[in-house]
Amino acid sequence: MEIIIQPTPAAATDVAARIIARLLREKPDAVLGLATGSTPLRLYQVLVDMNLDWSGVTTFNLDEYIGLPREHSQSYHSFMWENLFRHVNIKRENVHIPDGNAADIPAFCAAYEAAIHAAGGIDLQVLGIGTDGHIGFNEPTSSLASRTRIKTLAPRTRKDNARFFGSEEAVPHHVITMGIGTIMEARLNLLLGFGSSKASAIAEAVEGPITSLNPASILQMHPVVKVCLDEPAASLLQRADYYRWVYANKPAWQTF
Ligand code: F6R
Repeated sequence: MEIIIQPTPAAATDVAARIIARLLREKPDAVLGLATGSTPLRLYQVLVDMNLDWSGVTTFNLDEYIGLPREHSQSYHSFMWENLFRHVNIKRENVHIPDGNAADIPAFCAAYEAAIHAAGGIDLQVLGIGTDGHIGFNEPTSSLASRTRIKTLAPRTRKDNARFFGSEEAVPHHVITMGIGTIMEARLNLLLGFGSSKASAIAEAVEGPITSLNPASILQMHPVVKVCLDEPAASLLQRADYYRWVYANKPAWQTF
């Protein structure tokens, strides 16, 4: 894992945006895996401002609530179109977001996996992290080999996400999420984490044992993971000084 600690969420986001921009310039038909939530909001704004060419890009989102109408302000369809897709020249047919209203959810999930495969796999997966260590909506004790499927949100995640819905009761109980096995097949995983509320999940994921109790910890087994943090999110890392030293001493050709 490469741990990149920056003074602010804005600075950490800028590093992440440069990594994505480089990929889109080098591989105009790249396949991106995308996340929603508060963490990547600024990332999408920065990417829009970079005026990149999205005409050949294909995207797959990590997850979606089950049962929310697509047009609902908190659906991840709405989130993605509002915050990214309507501002760039991506082709509508190249956008994939799980259908939380699919009549046959297992069949939909199998087709989603097949579509990722048919697109050639995900080149770069953007991840946020839950305060309980979830990635996508793979809550603690999720199978570390799981594929796209239905999950029940943990009470803590429903509490965390109540801020978007006005109340905890309004947060759906169920979601479709890419599995941990799916995420692990992405060629590069780019995880962003900001704020002190993420500090313990980040420390466990990066420096703790690999355990389904912190699903993000499986990323220790992935060959190419970059973790962009602000100082508060990095505050519980025991080796923070080492990560800073490594980043400051990268060979020029490896910098972003
Ligand atoms: C969203 C997703 C989740 C979020 C996580 C953090 O697509 O997959 O794992 O990344 O819940 O959410 P925020 O960024 O709102 O703190």
